[in-house]
Amino acid sequence: MKAFVTGGLGQIGSHVVEMLLERGDEVVVVDNLATGRIEHLAEHPKLKVVIDSIANKSLMEELIGDFRPDALVHAACSYKDPDDWYNDTLTNCVGGSLMVDLAKKCGVKRFVYYQTALCYGLKPQEQPITLNHPRNPAGSSYAISKTANEYYIELSGIEYVTFRLANVIGPRNVAGPLPIFYQRLKDGKKCFVTKSRRDFVFVKDLAAVTVKACDGMGHGAYHFSSGTDVAIQELYNAVVEAMDVPGRPQADVKDLGPDDVFSILLDPSRTFQDFGDIEFTPLQTTVTEAIKYYQQHGTLGEYTHLRLQDEK
Ligand SMILES: NC(=O)c1ccc[n+]([C@@H]2O[C@H](COP(=O)([O-])OP(=O)(O)OC[C@H]3O[C@@H](n4cnc5c(N)ncnc54)[C@H](O)[C@@H]3O)[C@@H](O)[C@H]2O)c1
Repeated sequence: MKAFVTGGLGQIGSHVVEMLLERGDEVVVVDNLATGRIEHLAEHPKLKVVIDSIANKSLMEELIGDFRPDALVHAACSYKDPDDWYNDTLTNCVGGSLMVDLAKKCGVKRFVYYQTALCYGLKPQEQPITLNHPRNPAGSSYAISKTANEYYIELSGIEYVTFRLANVIGPRNVAGPLPIFYQRLKDGKKCFVTKSRRDFVFVKDLAAVTVKACDGMGHGAYHFSSGTDVAIQELYNAVVEAMDVPGRPQADVKDLGPDDVFSILLDPSRTFQDFGDIEFTPLQTTVTEAIKYYQQHGTLGEYTHLRLQDEK
């Protein structure tokens, strides 16, 4: 198969690319290195990497028009500065809608998208969140622009799968609590955890299911989620364990702030129904793989698409 992967030098995209190459597929990647890194993909005879933006219309028309991919995996996104609305809309809305448009024009058979659980709003109305929960992305520029992209996919009539995600972690993860815990512990600084819970899934588990989606499995929206949440405290403990920090320092525990949500748990039942049983990698294995990556490559920038707790 021929696959066009946007954001292929990022965490999720690069793992998908590796799996596609491993089974002999031909892959073209476009990434502007906003949060991705060139070293995330080794050179390969069946891989072409283009460093540019998905919002570069004439270049994208040429690349996708010439390559004629069977599948388009759209993993590129802008999120690293919550106040940078220009780049969020340029990548997520302009670039994102262009990917949908070109997929349609060039006869792409499968379009795979990754949506954020923030599309359900900062305070979801139910737990676990079902796929019928109304979309209400108004709380962040990232969610607004990602949801616009999802609406364009639905509007287009193309064959698509969108995986709505809460917390995907593992090697090459540059956002969220994991790289922050690693960096602070490495620098000998105190960490804090809130009394909240999240569902952390391993990036390689998601990549394996993405490959199935490229091959034609599933249609429409899915929650890629294990269905079980863990305390942020457990994530912190797993990082301390993986780093083998002397004295096993404790984190300060903070109460939830007024804007914090106790748990974000996505109901995965439709995913299990259509993609079969998924064997989720245990948290400690996931964290250990991520820590090995940070020890080799550093953490990049610990981005967050929302304001950090202590900045509020
Ligand atoms: N990781 C998660 O927990 C999570 C949760 C919800 C949704 N998602 C979605 O999954 C997808 C992949 O996320 P990730 O975790 O791999 O993040 P990531 O930051 O590792 O990857 C995103 C990639 O997109 C690239 N990019 C940004 N703007 C671009 C542009 N204009 N043109 C080309 N490339 C561009 C970045 O350089 C980066 O390599 C995104 O669409 C994101 O919204 C991820």
